[in-house]
Amino acid sequence: MPQTHHPVISSTGLFTPKDSISNAELVASYNSYVELHNRQHAAEIVRGEILELQPSSVEFIEKASGIKARHVMAKEPVLDPGIMAPRWQERGNDELSMMAEIGVKAARRALERAGRSPGDVDAVLCAASNMERAYPAMAIEIQQALGIDGFAFDMNVACSSATFGIQTAADYVRSGNARSVLVVSPEITSGHLNWRDRDSHFIFGDVATAVLVEDSSIAPDQHWDILGTKLKTVFSNNIRNNFGFLNRADPDKANNPDKLFIQEGRKVFKEVVPLVASMILAEADRLDIDPAGLRRLWLHQANAGMNRLIAQRVLGHEADDDESPTVLDTYGNTSSAGSIIAFHLHSDDLVAGDVGLICSFGAGYSAGTVFVRKVA
Ligand code: COA
Repeated sequence: MPQTHHPVISSTGLFTPKDSISNAELVASYNSYVELHNRQHAAEIVRGEILELQPSSVEFIEKASGIKARHVMAKEPVLDPGIMAPRWQERGNDELSMMAEIGVKAARRALERAGRSPGDVDAVLCAASNMERAYPAMAIEIQQALGIDGFAFDMNVACSSATFGIQTAADYVRSGNARSVLVVSPEITSGHLNWRDRDSHFIFGDVATAVLVEDSSIAPDQHWDILGTKLKTVFSNNIRNNFGFLNRADPDKANNPDKLFIQEGRKVFKEVVPLVASMILAEADRLDIDPAGLRRLWLHQANAGMNRLIAQRVLGHEADDDESPTVLDTYGNTSSAGSIIAFHLHSDDLVAGDVGLICSFGAGYSAGTVFVRKVA
């Protein structure tokens, strides 16, 4: 009889940078920059040559997004009105790179929680929205730092990278090509956020998560059955970042704002909510799961209002924080890591048999669903 393989989530890991920036600190820094800029360019503003910059506000940020604070790898330079970007010494080729360093921390925690040693792992996927370099793959550096034999590669599906990584890992397990796969999402979003853009300066935070996807035959007693995964992409320019190795072909434009994160936030909100809600409902139907009976939704953490609407459409009623926990209030949008942080921090209290949904969505557009059932 052919052997069958069933993928499960054995454990997760989280690394949170110690520095955190409150909205009040962020707005104070942004508004100092605005004052300085407007003073320095007063004559051009009067002549109508450049636009006067408008101040940001804590009230707007909290009301529009639900974000109250975010963690970052380097707080001081980000808040310095003369810099407003992360700053640290470039690392040599023989030193662990920044993404690998935090990815390894999250991965080690996932391995510890599963009682697994690196030698048991067959593959590492580094699934994140921006890679620190073109090559060699971040994933291979993480693999090497952990001492894992096997294979590793990077994948980037922006905010949906982690769920796309989980499905890829689950497919390796199902096919028998791997029994234990680490999906690592180090998100140093402070490097690709334009801290001088009023529309988006409050959005992102830094973090790293890891998910250990394994064959049920080797999983620890406490794990999560993967009931089904579904991925979807629909091309859109509404969230975009044009940074890349061809920027040097047109040096005059190499430092334009579109070489960092830009978005049409309102359009994203309106277009992505129905796309994701209908995708979740169709997938629940395919898996014969009653959406109203879902014990918990671990949704992508970009905007509290989006999550409220999606949860309401899926569950059929307004979700409370127990049914749809929020982490974006203290983490901000951490791109692909958001739904995994929510799952990591808010899943221990569920009991055997409880069914929940990990769901991410974002640039591409891209969206991924992972329905899970707690075992033991
Ligand atoms: N402080 C104060 N006012 C601000 C501001 C700030 N930092 N940024 C924008 N505003 C103003 C705008 O200028 C606009 O003013 P106007 O009405 O006079 O033109 C007003 O606030 C509304 O701006 P808008 O951009 O339409 O706000 P919004 O309610 O759509 O909220 C987002 C903005 C980004 C929070 C919201 O659209 C969002 O989260 N969308 C989803 C994004 C998403 O999920 N992206 C995925 C990323 S991976």
